[in-house]
Formats: sequence, C-alpha cells, structure tokens
Amino acid sequence: MAVKTTLTGITTTGTPHLGNYVGAIRPSIAASNTGNGDYYFFLADYHALIKCQEPELVHKSTREIAATWLALGLDTDKAVFYRQSDVPEIPELTWLLTCITAKGLMNRAHAYKDTVQKNLDDGEDPDFAINMGLFSYPILMAADILMFNATDVPVGRDQIQHLEMARDIAARFNHIYGEHFRLPEARIDYVAVLQGLDGRKMSKSYNNTIPLFLGEKQLRKHINKIKTNLLEPGEPKDPNDSTVFQVWQAFASEEQTEYMRKEFENGIAWGEAKKQLFELVNGQLGEARERYNELVVNSHQIEAVLRQGAEKARAKAQPLMQKLRKAVGIYGL
Ligand code: TRP
Repeated sequence: MAVKTTLTGITTTGTPHLGNYVGAIRPSIAASNTGNGDYYFFLADYHALIKCQEPELVHKSTREIAATWLALGLDTDKAVFYRQSDVPEIPELTWLLTCITAKGLMNRAHAYKDTVQKNLDDGEDPDFAINMGLFSYPILMAADILMFNATDVPVGRDQIQHLEMARDIAARFNHIYGEHFRLPEARIDYVAVLQGLDGRKMSKSYNNTIPLFLGEKQLRKHINKIKTNLLEPGEPKDPNDSTVFQVWQAFASEEQTEYMRKEFENGIAWGEAKKQLFELVNGQLGEARERYNELVVNSHQIEAVLRQGAEKARAKAQPLMQKLRKAVGIYGL
C-alpha cells in the first residue's frame, strides 16, 4: 500500500484565532507528530489574492500564520511546511488542469454561485465584482492537492465540494493522459468547530473570534465578551447550551470537563466560569505565545524555515511536473 499523504492549506488573509487552533492547527500538528504517513501544510497565499487585494494584509497574515504553526510546535522534519507561491510548479499544474476542466463544473461551485445569487438579490449584474480567481479557485486548489498526490485533505465542511471537484478533475486528467493522480478525499472528521463570541461558528467573517496570541489582558477581555444568558449565580446552567463550556471543553482534559460540568449544575457564576476559562486557555497558550512573539519580530527565521520547506516541496513537485508535461505533449524536440 502506498503511503497516506495528508495535505492542507491555510489561506493567508487573517490572524489565527482559537477556532483555527482547535479546528485545524492543533489536530494537524498532532497528526504529523505521529510520523504516520507524509504531511504537507502550506500557506495558500495565491488563494489569498482572490479575496484580498491589500498587500500589507496578505504579507502580515503569511508571517503570522507561519509563526503560529511554528510556535505551536510544528516539527518541520515531520511535515513539509511551505508557501504556495514558492512552488512555481503549482500554478503550472493549475494551467494543465484548467485546460481539462469543464466550465460547467466551475459554474456549480457554491462560493461562486452564492456570490452570483447575492448580486442578483441586490439587483446587480450577476458578475459584479467576481474575478476569474474566484471562478476558477477550485482548480488552483485541485493543483495544490494533486501536485503532491495527497490522499487525505483535512478541511472544514465548506470545502467538501472543492474536494469533490478535485477528484473530478484528477479523474478526468487520468482518463485523458494516463494514471498520474490518486483521488484525494476530504477529511472533515479531523476538524472540530469552535463557537465564537456570539455562539455561532468562530469565523473571521462573523467578526466573533478570539485571536490566538492576544496578550493576557486582551485575552481576558475577549473571554469576558463571550455571550451568556441571564441566569444568576446559584442557578443551574446548561453546559450543552453554553459557548463558555464549549470553549472550556476544547482546552480541558476529561477530568476538567467533568469538573466544569458539575460547576454548571451547581450554578457557577458566569464571571467565575469565565475567569477559570481564561486561566485554562492562558495556561495552555502562554509558552507558545512567548515563542510566537519572538518569531514574528525575527521573521528571517521564519523565512529560512519556509525556504527549506519549499525545497522539499519542489523536490517532489518537479519530477511529477516533468512527467505531466511529457504526458500532455510539452517536452523537448
Ligand atoms: N480553500 C481552503 C480554505 O479556504 C484553503 C486551501 C487552499 C486548501 N488550498 C487547499 C485546503 C488545499 C486544503 C487543500 O479553507
């Protein structure tokens, strides 16, 4: 059996928050540390350009996301960690795939369709503010995945369709040019969803996040902003209906979770529960935060790590790309 290859990308348009940590970063690092199979984690900076045309922001986000993964203990001997734009074979593969992808397939992409629908609802032209990057985004994502023949792709539910498209595209390429690609699968089982300040999924687009490496004071402030109900101290509270409890659970051991469940039944005051939640989260992130703060101001260190990652990634990508060029009829005379 060929080895399992796990790959995931992080779009560089924001500052990592607790939801990213619990849902993606922590499980990815833990899985790669098992040493079971090959791991590729990359900064999807070409994807960032689709929705963000603020150069400063893309650049800053790249630095912050890279520093975050490294500060949290990613072992770059166990996972290839690179920046998408350092691997020119990826856009090259994107083009080969673009030429065999049906336009109709892209028409059906949720992200694109939702934007068209919103334009129509607003009485705009259907194509208003839609760039070709957004339209063909699933092809770039397929290239990210197929470039390394990934089998397992941990993603959020919103990305399932993109994985189906990557499979379609891979199968079509294989059908036309021969068996070059394995068919990747979405792994949503990896990915836990954390609630945000307002109880909805924690997400930058809802503006309800708790950034991961806030200073202590700010972290406390954010935790205090988590929405609760009006139950008084002494009144029993339902842990299953509480964001405070849900975040607690994401950081707590089983014993600590049971402890807090009892505290809820006993009517712990919201202020007290939040105070304990702060202690728990702060305790777990404190050391990583120090490493993070050092790394972000020494970005040449991050850069060096990413360059090494790019070398490893290209060592895989170049031979495959050479094979693919040959397969499509582009090679020396
Ligand atoms: N589109 C993904 C997201 O928004 C990020 C991403 C880009 C990705 N390329 C990828 C994820 C390849 C997995 C594999 O979350």
